[in-house]
Amino acid sequence: MIELLDVCYVRMGTKDIQTSTDFATRILGLEVSESSRNSRHLRSDERGHTLYYHEGDPNDHVVGFEVRDSQTLEIAAATLEDLGHDLHRGTRDECDSRHVRDFVAFREPSGLKIELVVQPEIMGKRHFPSRDAGISGFSHVGIFSQDCKRDEAFWTQVCNARVSDRIGDVPLLRVNEIHHTLALVPAGRGGLQHINHQVESTDDIMRSYNLLKQHNVPITFGPGRHPTSGARFVYFQGPDGMTFEYSVGVNKVDEETYRERQFGFEPFSLCMWGAKSNLNGLEN
Ligand SMILES: [Fe+2]
Repeated sequence: MIELLDVCYVRMGTKDIQTSTDFATRILGLEVSESSRNSRHLRSDERGHTLYYHEGDPNDHVVGFEVRDSQTLEIAAATLEDLGHDLHRGTRDECDSRHVRDFVAFREPSGLKIELVVQPEIMGKRHFPSRDAGISGFSHVGIFSQDCKRDEAFWTQVCNARVSDRIGDVPLLRVNEIHHTLALVPAGRGGLQHINHQVESTDDIMRSYNLLKQHNVPITFGPGRHPTSGARFVYFQGPDGMTFEYSVGVNKVDEETYRERQFGFEPFSLCMWGAKSNLNGLEN
């Protein structure tokens, strides 16, 4: 069993590092924590970075998950090797560029690169965002799945994820007390579907909604409210077609008493306020 603690970063290629940096700082509201000619580390909370852009293929996506310690990483590596996954051990240089003690990389069943990470760096310096978006931190990702039932089995049986809710066959999966850290979205391919940042209040959602519209950023869903997690949200499109989300008010789950719930595959299961979804894989 692979014991995931939390999602810790996303790494993405981009066609234009400057355009992506401008979006991440001036629109999204992250802080550049490290910069090189063709890469940027970006912060959203106490961690040294939670988003990394590098010049390269925009379809090159990686999601990092933190595990407790080196022993947990070894158990995870052995489990994956037994199942026939190709593993890549992070070299010293690769660990340094990620500001982690150690990591192992593999591909989940739909093909997205996953990195299991020990001790991602925390910064003593307070997160100082480039605009007042109210971001309190990087919180979850949606990933495309070529087969939701198969991939749910990977995340829940090989890894420690639990189903909080299901919309049709689409599971919302938790690895800690937060309602979901991972959402699977049906598609004919693998990869990252959206990147979520939590904000402090519903006012932050609405302030950003107006700012996004003023900057002609395509709004793909919302403002709205998920009946599953309880979160108020807005989704919008960033560089290279990637979807970003702000949300607030996600439920926490009591592991002792919670039972997974089944929602119908219909629009009000995605938004209880009736917003229309133009999200990749979840259009209605
Ligand atoms: Fe989300």
